[in-house]
Amino acid sequence: MHPDWRRICDEFLIATSYSPEEMETGWEGRVYDRENRPETYLTYPDALARIELGEPDFPDAPAFWQILRDRRSKRNFLAEPMTLNQLNVLLWATQGITQDMGAYQLRTAPSAGALYSVETFLVVNNVTGLEPGLYHLDVRGWALEALRLEDLSDAVCHTLLDQEMTRVASVNFLWTAVMERCRAKYYERAYRYVWWDSGHVSENLSLAATALGLGVCCIGAWYDDLLHELVGIDGKEHFGVMTATVGTIEGTDWLADRRGPPKPD
Ligand SMILES: Cc1cc2nc3c(=O)[nH]c(=O)nc-3n(C[C@H](O)[C@H](O)[C@H](O)COP(=O)(O)O)c2cc1C
Repeated sequence: MHPDWRRICDEFLIATSYSPEEMETGWEGRVYDRENRPETYLTYPDALARIELGEPDFPDAPAFWQILRDRRSKRNFLAEPMTLNQLNVLLWATQGITQDMGAYQLRTAPSAGALYSVETFLVVNNVTGLEPGLYHLDVRGWALEALRLEDLSDAVCHTLLDQEMTRVASVNFLWTAVMERCRAKYYERAYRYVWWDSGHVSENLSLAATALGLGVCCIGAWYDDLLHELVGIDGKEHFGVMTATVGTIEGTDWLADRRGPPKPD
């Protein structure tokens, strides 16, 4: 733990606060050039493989109110794979482009200033038609970019504080934020916005997974350096903001799922 964490955290709140007095003076000279704003879309042209996702095939789903009622964190996953179409539906629910405004494309989840600082990386353990490994979502091209093609289930489990469910999960979502995308417009306040953005994305995942009858659990506990190393980002300009694990489940007994599977010997 950082020995001075309490002071630093208090100062973070102060440094990122708005007040009417400071609005007048603090924003003087701060200009945002919309036309030359930081690139919204990250892609990996040198990816090992590119999997075009296409339009997801949306299955029938329970009524919206029932989905809200049914959503529960589930941790006791089966070793059964999820399908690539199910993954595509989840990706669309979290990051799909639903409206083209020309200079901006709007998505299923809201984002501060429509700047979409959040990027999606996946550690795929068990998805039909996908090799296990690390993938990045190319949002504009709607494709998965394979960055590592190997079994990363142990690595991701350790990174997410050895939470066993993540090893058995079909897929783990690792969301990151590209800071400059938001900071170029919102400066210090951007350091709040990127976390809020990721919360909206993860709630969309929770609801969509529930609609598909899959188990999902948000995870806020990870070893930061290990996550940045796993994804291949610097941890300062581009860093982890949220993660979630998704898998196939049996039944709806969330109480039985509550503690997750025991650790293997
Ligand atoms: C930001 C955040 C971080 C979380 N981190 C973890 C985690 O690391 N491990 C875990 O098992 N559950 C985690 N959860 C799930 C919560 O424990 C769960 O949402 C809470 O107990 C309420 O239960 P419910 O989701 O079933 O309604 C997290 C949830 C959120 C929103």
